[in-house]
Amino acid sequence: MHICALNGSLRGSRGATHKILQSMGMGVTASGGIWDEVHLSEHKIESCRACNHCQNTKTYKCVFDGRDDAAKVFKHMVDADLLVYASPVYVFGMSSLLKRFIERIYSRAPIEGALLTKSGLFFHATDRSLTGKPFMSVVVCDNMENLTVRNTKEYFRVFSRFMDAPHVAHLERRSAAAWMAALGGTDEKAQLRAEKVLTAYVQAGQDLVIKGSISKGTKRVAEQKFVQVPFLVRLARHIPVFRPALDAEVRKRSVVMIGTE
Ligand SMILES: Cc1cc2nc3c(=O)[nH]c(=O)nc-3n(C[C@H](O)[C@H](O)[C@H](O)COP(=O)(O)O)c2cc1C
Repeated sequence: MHICALNGSLRGSRGATHKILQSMGMGVTASGGIWDEVHLSEHKIESCRACNHCQNTKTYKCVFDGRDDAAKVFKHMVDADLLVYASPVYVFGMSSLLKRFIERIYSRAPIEGALLTKSGLFFHATDRSLTGKPFMSVVVCDNMENLTVRNTKEYFRVFSRFMDAPHVAHLERRSAAAWMAALGGTDEKAQLRAEKVLTAYVQAGQDLVIKGSISKGTKRVAEQKFVQVPFLVRLARHIPVFRPALDAEVRKRSVVMIGTE
C-alpha cells in the first residue's frame, strides 16, 4: 500500500499536523507500506486564476505548468493507492494552502459537459487519477469544540460523493496545542495521556495498510478529548445567567488554547 499524505499546514514539519502524520507514517512503514508526506508549504502552489486556459487545449495545460510545483505534487498523488488530506483548521475551515492546491485539480479535465457520478450527482469530469482515489482526512485544531472541525469534515464528505472517492476514514485532533504541550511537558500524567494518543496514530497507519481504513478502537483513542471540562461547567455554560462568571473563571484558568511555537 502506497500512501501519499498532503500536509496543508503552514508550519510544515514544526506543526501538530506533521506530528500526527509522522506517527501514522511510522505505522505505515512498520506494516510494509510506503509513506510519502508532501509538505505543501515547501512547494510553490499558485492559485487557480479561473482563466480557463486549461479548457482551451486538448492537453488541458494549466498556465502554471512548469512555473510552479502543482504538477509535481499531482505526480505524488498518481503514484499512491490512498491519499491523506491533512489540514489544520484556520478560521473554521481547512487551510487556504490545501484548498488552493485542491482547486488546481480543476485544470486537469474538461469541465464543459455534465455527467452523472456513481453516487448519482450531476457534475463535470475531474481527473480521477487524482481525485477518485480512496482517501482519509486528518483535521487538527486548538479549540476543543466539535463545531470547530465541522466544516472541514463536511467538506470531505461532499468531496467524496462528487469525486466517487471512498472516504475511508476521518481523524480529528482537537486541543492540539494542549496535546503538543503535554507531549513535551513535565506533567507525567498528561504526558502519558498524550503519548497514548500519539501511539494511536501509529496504529492508525498500521490499520490503513492492513484494513484500508481505521478501526473504531484506534479512532477512539486517537480522538480522545485532551482538555477535560468538568461536567457542571459543561452544563452551566448553556445557561446564559451563569456565563459571565464562567467566562471570568475560564479566562483565569485558561489552559493552552492558542498554538505556541
Ligand atoms: C490563521 C489561523 C487560524 C486559525 N483558526 C483556528 C480556528 O478557527 N479554530 C481552531 O481551533 N484553531 C485555529 N487555529 C489554530 C490551528 O488550527 C492549530 O494551531 C493547529 O494545530 C495548527 O496545525 P499545525 O501546528 O500543524 O500548523 C488557527 C491558526 C491560524 C494560524
